[in-house]
Amino acid sequence: MSYQYNFKDVLGRAERITWRVEDLIGEGKTLDFSKPFMPESLARTEGLSFLSGGERHMLNQIRGHTYLTIFGIVEEFIVPFVLDHARPFINGEDYRARAFLEFVSEEAKHIHLFRRFQEEFRKGFPVDCKVIGPADAIGKEILSHHPLSVALAILMIEWMTQRHFQESVHDDGALDPQFKSLLKHHWMEEMQHAQLDTLMVESIAAGMSQAEIDEAIDGFLAIGAFLDGGLKQQTAFDLEAFEAAAERTLTPQERDQFMTQQHQANRWTYLGTGLTHKNFLTTLGNLSPAKRVAIESAAPNFC
Ligand SMILES: [Fe+2]
Ligand SMILES: [Fe+2]
Repeated sequence: MSYQYNFKDVLGRAERITWRVEDLIGEGKTLDFSKPFMPESLARTEGLSFLSGGERHMLNQIRGHTYLTIFGIVEEFIVPFVLDHARPFINGEDYRARAFLEFVSEEAKHIHLFRRFQEEFRKGFPVDCKVIGPADAIGKEILSHHPLSVALAILMIEWMTQRHFQESVHDDGALDPQFKSLLKHHWMEEMQHAQLDTLMVESIAAGMSQAEIDEAIDGFLAIGAFLDGGLKQQTAFDLEAFEAAAERTLTPQERDQFMTQQHQANRWTYLGTGLTHKNFLTTLGNLSPAKRVAIESAAPNFC
């Protein structure tokens, strides 16, 4: 296959990135609630014309909180999955084993980072924001699928973080500097994860027949549909938090518009940006050209 990645190089790059959670949050560093947390291309609050500027700002920050929790949830199932994948390589393939263990250790750090930002958020935001979960139940459902289905879901998530930073966050000067720093530091380490996960997908698929691979891709789509259901529920929670924070009830028509528009914004943020990433599609096409075509034609539903 055509990938240029190798375990020694990826490990070397990962080891040169050395930030700590404490460098990004706490010890005098906190969130600035006068600034937005999410780029507009992901939050998409401007389409809700019945909200005031202040209300759109509030919704943007609720979406920022959602970002912290969704990534916390997905990274909790990534840790045990990658750890299990690394286990057979510990007695022999040193670079490979160490690259995957570094990957796991970074995800554990990210979970901690997202949690610390959530704590800071709760200190500064006027109401509680409910989140889907619990994370272990969501993880259990996802991990019940074939390892190739799970590895593809993880690959989609890793490429998604690259796109969030490069296309939406990097040039956005209005964002809260601490939140932007979180997205930047996450992006730096996720680049290596995306490459390792590409190699992981390749090695899991190596012993499989085309029919088995196609079935596993259907399993990946089932994981996507499950996540989409979670995003719809999360949108309803965000609406609830928004009404509590804004201290007003939207009309039934406004609520419908909020749900449709924000569910789509969540779909783009957590599914579309990964599903349509060119590197994700390349891996998918290498596994199954026919499935790539099918997924590409369904992708606009998540954009
Ligand atoms: Fe991460
Ligand atoms: Fe990752």
